[in-house]
Amino acid sequence: MDQTNQPDCGEQLDEAGSRENVPQNGTSETVKCPEPQKPEVTRDLKRLAGPLTGQTVKRKKKLFLYGNYDRYYGYRNNREAPKEDVRLPVFMEQRAFIEGKRMLDIGCNNGSLTLLIAEHCRPASVVGIDIDRNLIGAARNNLAVRQKACDSEALQNVQFRHINYVYADEELLECEKPQYDVIFCLSVTKWIQLNFGDAGVKLAFRRAYRQLHPGGRFVLEPQPWDSYKHRKKLSPEILANFRAIQFRPDAFREYLLGDEVGFREVMELKIPSGGAGSKGFRRPIYVFQK
Ligand SMILES: C[S@@+](CC[C@H](N)C(=O)[O-])C[C@H]1O[C@@H](n2cnc3c(N)ncnc32)[C@H](O)[C@@H]1O
Repeated sequence: MDQTNQPDCGEQLDEAGSRENVPQNGTSETVKCPEPQKPEVTRDLKRLAGPLTGQTVKRKKKLFLYGNYDRYYGYRNNREAPKEDVRLPVFMEQRAFIEGKRMLDIGCNNGSLTLLIAEHCRPASVVGIDIDRNLIGAARNNLAVRQKACDSEALQNVQFRHINYVYADEELLECEKPQYDVIFCLSVTKWIQLNFGDAGVKLAFRRAYRQLHPGGRFVLEPQPWDSYKHRKKLSPEILANFRAIQFRPDAFREYLLGDEVGFREVMELKIPSGGAGSKGFRRPIYVFQK
């Protein structure tokens, strides 16, 4: 297995990422923002000497700078059955706050978990968004496949969009109106923080709050602080952001409940268990209520 291409379960070593296919640094396809920095997609690579010619061949290595792994669920879940997800039973127990509701999934990757939630917890509508265009393409394909396979009404109101959830300009928050009842943000905050700093993750929290209707819920699965350091050398920008971080995950709860955001209460779900996936992914999940 290529060690460099594994997602973060907090225990693994290094990973790769790409700034290709990333929407402009900001909000959605509709907002014009400056061009993002060009990706460093081909990092120093293994040099393979040609046996006869002495030629040096550079092998491309894909860098997943946003946690935009293209085989995420193969690693996170059971490799033989990557469509299983240990978090699903936990969400099914809380089905009451999902069923019949308008749902947003921030950082949906290829949509595997989003679609499982749609099928099993029956929200009225689902929007999955991701910063990586290719993953959104994969999510749309997965949706089409599932729609054919299960012929379920549950998947009729599901859509996937290519969006960077972090606004380039804080003032855009003012335009944000309540439109969802439940917003999932699972294993995304580390990537937002490594790329957009403390200000980026705070902006994302405030945006989620504004997008929720009164009584709506924000479902947050933060990555632990220890896992950040494994990713700090992915790029010079990420290293600089990592060094500047002061707002650590153990402070998220207080911030979300405080005056700057304003959720009124939080509940901790039980830590997912069982399944054959990596134990490093068993993380606490919090539900904040507006
Ligand atoms: C580690 S994966 C988690 C996937 C999924 N939420 C889960 O828990 O199964 C993180 C995902 O967040 C996406 N992501 C990172 N930063 C983002 C941003 N600023 N806006 C939208 N998506 C983002 C990545 O592309 C990636 O697919």
